[in-house]
Amino acid sequence: MKQLILGLIIMISTTATAISQDKVVIAHRGASGYLPEHTIAAKAMAYAMGADYIEQDVVMTKDDQLVVLHDHYLDRVTDVQEKFPDRKREDGRYYVIDFTLDEIRTLDVSERYRINDDGKKVPVFPDRFPLNKSRFKVHTFEEEIELVQGLNKSTGGDIGIYPEAKSPAFHLQEGKDLSKAILLALKEYGYRDKNSKVYYQTFEIEELKRVHDDLLPALAMNIKLVQLMGEDDYYDDIITREGLKALSEYADGIGPSIGMIIPNDAQAGALEITNLVSDAHALGMEVHPYTFRQERMATPQYAKSYEDLLDIFFNQVGVDGVFSDFPDRTLKFLGR
Ligand code: G3P
Ligand code: CA
Repeated sequence: MKQLILGLIIMISTTATAISQDKVVIAHRGASGYLPEHTIAAKAMAYAMGADYIEQDVVMTKDDQLVVLHDHYLDRVTDVQEKFPDRKREDGRYYVIDFTLDEIRTLDVSERYRINDDGKKVPVFPDRFPLNKSRFKVHTFEEEIELVQGLNKSTGGDIGIYPEAKSPAFHLQEGKDLSKAILLALKEYGYRDKNSKVYYQTFEIEELKRVHDDLLPALAMNIKLVQLMGEDDYYDDIITREGLKALSEYADGIGPSIGMIIPNDAQAGALEITNLVSDAHALGMEVHPYTFRQERMATPQYAKSYEDLLDIFFNQVGVDGVFSDFPDRTLKFLGR
């Protein structure tokens, strides 16, 4: 009897370990809970924590260079207002696409901020890295790939990259093919097929289809594709069963917001999980929701804590991976 119980315990714990090992931890903008998002420092920290993939949001400069920034504006993480006060557009924003790489390299990067009513910079997450301390810079997509590949060589690791084309339609309107440039860079660095440790992601439905139908065949590539989606009417058709079926013919996965899986106003004990994950899984697609943050202000009320939120998504919903600002706590939760 004792042996039977021991056997069962070993079997259960082995299965649990196997499940945790399969889950994908994506360092969202690097270890952005600890260091300014998308800086090389944040990426190195995420690497050292052991994330499976490191995310890059990618935009293009005036001189066609790819840089790693979340917005196609510079005015929420840099001192562009102070260094180039005359370069804003009529809407008051400083567009990356209006600056050369050399100009962008003169900027200092800080923790993300907003501008309050008094015109002062206020950190979006007050308990994170302080504003305007130490020195951080914008870097190119290629420099980040070289960092990850360099660390893979020096540590013997095999960490992947997870680039997002940011506002590709806007770039196309401005005469720049952002997705094509990203794919060309990926090809140059050896990411060419579905065995490569890379996922290409975008929020734009038409763009993901164009990448699949036109760009990848033209470049003789076949990498994994993820359709990002958010709580917006734009995605109403694609999240129907028919929409997901059509998507599954070219996408390997979806990246929905947390609120598309469990409504943000759900109550603990009555979670009302939507069909999105089960429908996507039934069609063979992976599901990597965003964004998992430890701050109470960024955690839905139905979760008691960050770990409770992870427990709900990994163990009750059954997602395949998460985008997290805190890869260390996510890996620890998974027992890694
Ligand atoms: O790409 C997944 C997640 O990063 C989407 O949100 O706005 O942080 O790019 P965002
Ligand atoms: Ca992103």
